[in-house]
Amino acid sequence: MKILIKNGHILDPATNTDGILDLLIEEDTIKAVGTKGKEHKGTEVSADRVIDAKDCYVMPGLIDLHVHLRDPGFTHKETIETGGLAAAKGGFTTICAMPNTNPVIDNRDRVGFVHRKAAVESVVNVLQIGAVTEGQNGEYVADIAGMAEEGIPAVSEDGKSVMDAKLYFKGMKQAAANGLRVFAHCEEKSLVGNGVMHKSQRAKEMGLPEISHAAEDVIVARDILLAKEAGVPLHICHVSTAGGVKMVALAKKGNIKVTAEVCPHHFTLSVNDIKKDDPNFKMNPPLRDPEDVEALKKGLAEGIIDAIATDHAPHTMQEKGVSMMGAPFGIVGLETAAALTYTELVDKKVLTPMQMVEKMSYNPAKIIGSSKGTLAPGSIADVTIFDPRAEYRIDASKFVSMGRNTPFHGRKVKGLVRMTIVGGEIVYQDENFA
Ligand code: DOR
Ligand code: ZN
Ligand code: ZN
Repeated sequence: MKILIKNGHILDPATNTDGILDLLIEEDTIKAVGTKGKEHKGTEVSADRVIDAKDCYVMPGLIDLHVHLRDPGFTHKETIETGGLAAAKGGFTTICAMPNTNPVIDNRDRVGFVHRKAAVESVVNVLQIGAVTEGQNGEYVADIAGMAEEGIPAVSEDGKSVMDAKLYFKGMKQAAANGLRVFAHCEEKSLVGNGVMHKSQRAKEMGLPEISHAAEDVIVARDILLAKEAGVPLHICHVSTAGGVKMVALAKKGNIKVTAEVCPHHFTLSVNDIKKDDPNFKMNPPLRDPEDVEALKKGLAEGIIDAIATDHAPHTMQEKGVSMMGAPFGIVGLETAAALTYTELVDKKVLTPMQMVEKMSYNPAKIIGSSKGTLAPGSIADVTIFDPRAEYRIDASKFVSMGRNTPFHGRKVKGLVRMTIVGGEIVYQDENFA
């Protein structure tokens, strides 16, 4: 099948392409990116499907480094299939699945299970991330070599930190020996305690137990130092504090192999947006101070923060239908990330459209050592068509994810994914996009 995407605004950081051009896909490969000028009757390429992408950005498929698919074990919250559909609707063509499922993905066979299941059930590419320790119990290092052979790009204990530094160091060295990265969820358990909300005036007014900056920052510092010594590339997940940004900047200056991601909720909302006890505002790490939000945006703009990832964390209505004290941490993000990034960062001139693509596709690909994240001819045809003009209100009832837990229901945003193409196949198309 040949697909010709015409008149779109092509954004490709890898080739520094930024202009109105046509893109030709043949089977699963990007065949050509051409100028309109060269096109005239007689030489026009024939295609099975011609898509008019006028006024839209045509981007390399978005890559989400941080997703919770809940499959196996918590398929009442999300499955590989529904998570894949939500990803496609959100413009993502590759998603990295965190291992805190049941069972925890901590050995070769379990990685193989997810990858085989995803090949059948998911419309987007799923890359499983392996646990650092068996069962995420923090006692024994997991089967890192076996999981590496099954194709994991990284190991992570996400959901918590490996609190035993010696054990973590051992896992980091094994990750390094197997060519993997470590994705770090940074949270000092003893400092978090039963906290549910950022340490702030709001938390005091609401009488809720608090989570300090330090609870995150001390582990960011520790993990950078450990990774440096272990010689493993470290990726800091969901940085939420100004201190975290500072430490990542410092580490990069010192030529330590560190990268970092932020989540849309952390650059869009602060703790002051929590107006009442609402579990849709409960996530880990929590929404921080306005000063942190500003630091995250600055970090993104200055290239200290490499990526935007969702930490898509679906939970059921029952689980989230209680108080902040009783509800689990986490919000869904796959279907709102691109719009929030465009609305909060690009439309407000924090990032250029090209930088949006860098943070959501090009850099994530580099972080996992993938050749994706580009529209260069010869690349796999993973493509996202994004309409920056569309204005609408986020409607959680229309999510294809099984999760409805979002603080963004009803929020006005700009920017809509019109089409998602994975390996030359159209896996999602917006109903109003002819
Ligand atoms: O908010 C969160 N939800 N943070 C995490 O670290 C884990 C995640 C989940 O699995 O629900
Ligand atoms: Zn996490
Ligand atoms: Zn997570």
